[in-house]
Amino acid sequence: MCIIKTNGLTKHYGRVRALENLNLELKKGEVLGLLGPNGSGKTTTLSILLGIIKPDLGSYLWFEGKYDRPLLKVGSILETPNHYTYLSGWENLRIVAHIKKVPETGLMEIADQVGLKGRIYSRVSTYSLGMRQRLAIACSLIGDPELLIFDEPTNGLDPQGIAEVRKLINDIAGTGKTIIMASHILSEVEKICSHTAVLNNGRLIASGPVAELLKQTNSYLLAYRDAEKLQEVLTGFEGYVSHHFDGEAVHTELEENFDGTDLNAYLHSRGISVSTLAFKERKLEDAFMDMLAKDKTSSSRA
Ligand SMILES: Nc1ncnc2c1ncn2[C@@H]1O[C@H](COP(=O)(O)OP(=O)(O)O)[C@@H](O)[C@H]1O
Ligand SMILES: [Mg+2]
Repeated sequence: MCIIKTNGLTKHYGRVRALENLNLELKKGEVLGLLGPNGSGKTTTLSILLGIIKPDLGSYLWFEGKYDRPLLKVGSILETPNHYTYLSGWENLRIVAHIKKVPETGLMEIADQVGLKGRIYSRVSTYSLGMRQRLAIACSLIGDPELLIFDEPTNGLDPQGIAEVRKLINDIAGTGKTIIMASHILSEVEKICSHTAVLNNGRLIASGPVAELLKQTNSYLLAYRDAEKLQEVLTGFEGYVSHHFDGEAVHTELEENFDGTDLNAYLHSRGISVSTLAFKERKLEDAFMDMLAKDKTSSSRA
């Protein structure tokens, strides 16, 4: 089943293009990472889907139009969680169950699922930020929604809190729930999501299964004391495809039938003995940098 389908969503704030012609489709069971730098339109997208703001143009359809009030089937955390901190976690869960008009049975199971059972009767004011975020996730799970939406769920947490929340979302994803998670952190999306949609300046620049974006390329990492000279000589290699310099190392892609040995021999013949030459596993970050670079080229051409 199609959980959400958007058609040309567009939103401007004055002259700022927050979102332009967004077409997205999410199927049941997918864990979608909405990825993009700060200001790329992630929160705008989620706010439109949740009915908090209206798009200037475009439309969207929840659950193929199956429900009269589809947002009752969606659990979400958009901003930093707002709990009643002078009440216990348990009382907060009960309040949310009441608002969502669902029975309280099952609340303790949810508390257990998010790892808060042992502290559920303590006041929220005594919780760490990570525990508060896990309580927020517990609240979003109440009523057994068909879709969960998390906007930058690890923002502002310490490393331990980040690890806890990531593990929890991973566990929830493992139960087969459909999830949209917005994040600017590539490694987070890479670890948790099955699919990704990449936004840049309000435009969708790539989307699809994470595995497809991570398809292996013939890439190498090079280091040499004179990076400029290295780059200059590198471009003369017959198997050269492309490269970029990240300030420390040079990343290069070679044609399929060339490898590091060929490259090393060539560099050597030109008087360059590199201090590092390594085959590079493709990470989402590399794919992301490539996409942003390509997007820049195509928009400067337009
Ligand atoms: N209420 C608003 N008023 C004016 N500009 C806004 C408002 N909300 C968002 N924007 C702008 O829209 C763009 C997209 O923002 P946002 O969707 O929050 O990005 P993200 O969540 O990816 O960081 C940014 O340039 C941001 O400054
Ligand atoms: Mg945001």
